[in-house]
Amino acid sequence: MPNIAVVGAQWGDEGKGKVVDLLSERFDVVARFQGGPNAGHTVAFDGKTYALHHVPSGVFRPDTRIVIGNGTVLDLTKLLEELDGLAEAGIDLAGRLYISDRAHVILPILKMLDALEESSAKAGDKIGTTLRGIGPTYQAKAARWGLRVGDLADPEHLEERIDRILSGPAGGRLAQAGQEMPTAAQLARDGHGQWKRLEQYVTDTAMRLNDWIDEGGSVLFEGAQGTLLDLDHGSYPFVTSSTTVAGGLCAGLGVAPTRVTGALGVFKAYGTRVGAGPMPSELIDDAAGDLIRERGHEYGTTTGRPRRCGWFDGVAARYANRINRFDAACITLLDVLDAFEEIRICTGYRLDGKPFEGFPASVSRAERLEPVYETHKGWNRDTTGVRKWEDLPAEAHAYLARLEEVIGTEVAMVGVGPDRVQSILRPGSWITRNVPDLI
Ligand code: GDP
Ligand code: IMO
Ligand code: MG
Repeated sequence: MPNIAVVGAQWGDEGKGKVVDLLSERFDVVARFQGGPNAGHTVAFDGKTYALHHVPSGVFRPDTRIVIGNGTVLDLTKLLEELDGLAEAGIDLAGRLYISDRAHVILPILKMLDALEESSAKAGDKIGTTLRGIGPTYQAKAARWGLRVGDLADPEHLEERIDRILSGPAGGRLAQAGQEMPTAAQLARDGHGQWKRLEQYVTDTAMRLNDWIDEGGSVLFEGAQGTLLDLDHGSYPFVTSSTTVAGGLCAGLGVAPTRVTGALGVFKAYGTRVGAGPMPSELIDDAAGDLIRERGHEYGTTTGRPRRCGWFDGVAARYANRINRFDAACITLLDVLDAFEEIRICTGYRLDGKPFEGFPASVSRAERLEPVYETHKGWNRDTTGVRKWEDLPAEAHAYLARLEEVIGTEVAMVGVGPDRVQSILRPGSWITRNVPDLI
């Protein structure tokens, strides 16, 4: 059975939620392997739109199990709100939601620390995080004093652990900044209360996943953020604090690479980025950039911030394909380009006047990159009603064919609107061959 990764290939918000929602119809399990409430994955169908932050986008398929894996970080207050919201919308989670006992907990003080670090950083050093406590929680994990979901079970042990955290570096930093902190007793009481509500879902998810795969079940691995935000491979230090690339799923879920049968990259038909850091093909104070933002409603699902918009960055896309080795690409938001006479693709970079191959490691170099563009004729036609690959305009076919060349992989799916039905599968492509009977 297929066990396929779906990961973001740019700077996040590529439309992973929509792609996962569609594919999950044919999978037994959908599992998140990293990130936390920094993610905002949108799923739209039957006239309703849902924003998911912790919960995998397979949640709307009643027969699909959903897993929040060990590599994730969880804000339990927000997670419970998310679960309540889904319950109110009539989504039944009983017996099909599985939360790893090894996932890390975003303690309220770690969220405070995220805000403090961002507000106290000098202008050029601000990362523009989502302020959800992601960085400090992964720091705590790597420094080996973080708190895991399983630690919430025993109230006394929990209070001792939290007490040590408050008297450690995180508490010290907040105290130094004069911030008032909750007591260990309070945090332990709240944490244990949350545990009681979540206990029914908490389990060793690696054991479950491996058992299900052994039994012939199929798993869709849902990435959050995107390849250019990866802790190692992204535009460091303007990245998130987890491994967002397909390879991250193995550690983030306890599933061996030998069990993964494929990887799909989700790319927007253009580029966006939210937060600070290099974006070589960004359109700054530019009418085309503004048109993309308005047509694509490019405002963050999690924070509401306007996203920075630009042309498709073929160099960054090729870089992402090298690291993830995609079997195929899903190109989303193609319809946003319906109103353009001309569309550009960045096919090369120049650094200090010379051609530059790849994506530079140093941010100062990345910020000096100049994009080299080629221009394509737009189709200037509404595609939102197109449902078949062959019905796309000729210019759209030409644009997609060029994207395939610059990325280095086949385009197997195209998005022409936010709704579940506004996805076009390419006949005979990797997806239709590997995920039969999808639509
Ligand atoms: P994710 O974080 O990768 O799941 O993406 P987000 O949900 O943050 O952002 C993608 C946005 O684009 C959402 O508002 C989606 O509803 C919307 N979207 C996804 N695919 C398409 C598409 O093909 N066309 C249009 N117009 N909107 C889309
Ligand atoms: P999804 O899953 C887009 C960005 C933030 C910031 C950087 C670090 O919806 O694609 P963090 O809070 O993670 O420490 O912020 O990463 N970022 C995202 N950008 N989509 C996301 O998630 C993001 N999650 C984090 O804007 O630049
Ligand atoms: Mg998003």
